[in-house]
Amino acid sequence: MTHSEYFLKVGEEGGKRLGALSNIYNSTTKEFLLRNALKPGIRVLEVGGGTGDISCWIANKIGRLGLVKVIDSSSSQVFLIRNKIRFFKLRNIEVEKIKVENILPNFGKFDLVFCRFLLIHMQNPKKIIKKLFSLLNPGGKLIIEDCIFSKSFCFPTLDAFDRRIELIQQLFKVSNKNYDIGKHLYGMLLGMGIKEVKTNLVQPVLRSKSQKEILPLFLQETSDTILRFNLSNKKELIDLNYSLLNSVVEKSHYFVAGAQVCQVCVEKSGFVAKI
Ligand SMILES: C[S@@+](CC[C@H](N)C(=O)[O-])C[C@H]1O[C@@H](n2cnc3c(N)ncnc32)[C@H](O)[C@@H]1O
Repeated sequence: MTHSEYFLKVGEEGGKRLGALSNIYNSTTKEFLLRNALKPGIRVLEVGGGTGDISCWIANKIGRLGLVKVIDSSSSQVFLIRNKIRFFKLRNIEVEKIKVENILPNFGKFDLVFCRFLLIHMQNPKKIIKKLFSLLNPGGKLIIEDCIFSKSFCFPTLDAFDRRIELIQQLFKVSNKNYDIGKHLYGMLLGMGIKEVKTNLVQPVLRSKSQKEILPLFLQETSDTILRFNLSNKKELIDLNYSLLNSVVEKSHYFVAGAQVCQVCVEKSGFVAKI
């Protein structure tokens, strides 16, 4: 594994975490998409589609005359998305296994390009944003959602909770990725010459056990990588996991705020050729 590789689990192995992620963030994602971009008949590209939940929902919203293309770098995710499309008998959605870095200019043009929790895994998010922007039709919208991880907290405070965030920060740092990428989106887009950037900030309260389980799950999925980079040791990770499960997840008196998410929307016509 190199520093640039994706270090979370894919397919069935990552299913529980991605399920929790959908449960926590899908309602605000859908609101933002509906408010800013979705119309019947449009062509949509989702990059890093994960479970395909949002892509399938978009396919329903845009109707038979629209088209959703969803891509993911993982064949296991692509397999799961295909199954979901078959299950829902959707005819206006196609899937492709491809890395966003490998998309060529002749890939096609879209009225909406959307990605969520993708740029946090990229070493050069600015380059990816430029690429995504180049795939828009005139008047098309680019919608990005990404994390501000450091803003997650629990109260009463718990050392294991804070240490988990510290380890995740270090993990992204040694991988040359930014776990607070959401903070940078607004400035990056303005810096590219885009005049108007619509923004919204979301911070969910994790209420149910299945939502709070995202805390140990993220740590469990990244523990091999954390150990490989010598950021911790096996005993500490087992203790952290135990502490998170038996306190924050199991005990209802903990008030848990999940990672903040910055939502941004820009339009191609608002673009001033600095790219
Ligand atoms: C954290 S998940 C988010 C999934 C989904 N967007 C969501 O919000 O639930 C990131 C997804 O991006 C995919 N991915 C990672 N690196 C990628 C790349 N270079 N190109 C395309 N997809 C990538 C992963 O396989 C995974 O499905």
